[in-house]
Amino acid sequence: MKILLTGATGLIGTEVMKTLAAAGHQVTATDRKGGDIPSGVNFILGELTDDKFIESLDFNVDAVIHLGSIPRPFDDRDFEVFDNNVSCTYKVFAKAAANNVKVVIYASSLSIYGTAWSGPWTSPEFAPFDESLPLHHYESYALCKEVNERTADMWANRSKTAYVGLRFPFCNSMQAIEAHAIAQRDGDEETVTVAAKILWGYLDVRDAAHGILAILAGNSAGSKTYNFTAPDTTAPHPTSEMLAKFHPTTKVLKPIAGYGSLTDCSRWIAAYGYQPMHLIDRKKLGI
Ligand SMILES: NC(=O)c1ccc[n+]([C@@H]2O[C@H](COP(=O)([O-])OP(=O)(O)OC[C@H]3O[C@@H](n4cnc5c(N)ncnc54)[C@H](O)[C@@H]3O)[C@@H](O)[C@H]2O)c1
Repeated sequence: MKILLTGATGLIGTEVMKTLAAAGHQVTATDRKGGDIPSGVNFILGELTDDKFIESLDFNVDAVIHLGSIPRPFDDRDFEVFDNNVSCTYKVFAKAAANNVKVVIYASSLSIYGTAWSGPWTSPEFAPFDESLPLHHYESYALCKEVNERTADMWANRSKTAYVGLRFPFCNSMQAIEAHAIAQRDGDEETVTVAAKILWGYLDVRDAAHGILAILAGNSAGSKTYNFTAPDTTAPHPTSEMLAKFHPTTKVLKPIAGYGSLTDCSRWIAAYGYQPMHLIDRKKLGI
């Protein structure tokens, strides 16, 4: 397939670019910073908020994968995160619709539910939670993820382009995920708090990339968003114990066995049949 990838030299983009190239896709990749570009990929350096740059990109492709974004809120530059993430996304989605691109795959975030970066401690209303969990916004990063999902809905209404939003959890290399699990095991206070706020979710970047391949191989229509996480957690204790300690107000809808994830990804699995393969090795980590 002919694919345009944004955010290509970022953490997830680098893995996605490599995986797409290895799968034989014809990839044009773009980012505002350079990086490690696999052979065969056409890399274009540029700024997605710049209209002229967007106009110069070839949207005559089968799929757009949009990962170009600031991936967290900055307290002192809240407006910069909003401006950047909403503006880039609107333009990319609009150009894709205008060019009848078959599918746009984009990164939303589990942060959309509002627990991750909230000032006041925020717990999910219920668990396990599917995509119907209410959204609570305390900062621009989560807010712009919601704006982007609504933007996708609008362009899906106005065109034949399908929009698939992936609500990623903490997504990184297995080395970084395991380091995060070890820090929790060893009681590092800051990590323990962060992990509880991100609901102990994770996804190996290789699974993010292969999930995207599954979407390219599947059928998509309209505008849909999916929770897409590993089926377990990074926590050192069973999920029911972690919930009782850190999120005691969360209503447990059905028992979560062992170290099972709080996230219900059944909608994602039913749509594309992909289950994450790269899971943390609890035995090796002693948790
Ligand atoms: N990594 C995670 O834990 C995680 C979790 C949930 C969602 N996400 C989402 O996944 C996507 C990718 O995240 P990541 O972790 O790879 O972040 P990253 O910062 O490593 O990569 C994002 C890339 O986008 C580029 N970019 C940002 N604004 C741009 C602009 N205006 N013009 C051109 N390029 C621009 C950056 O240069 C960067 O290379 C983001 O949408 C992020 O919100 C990431």
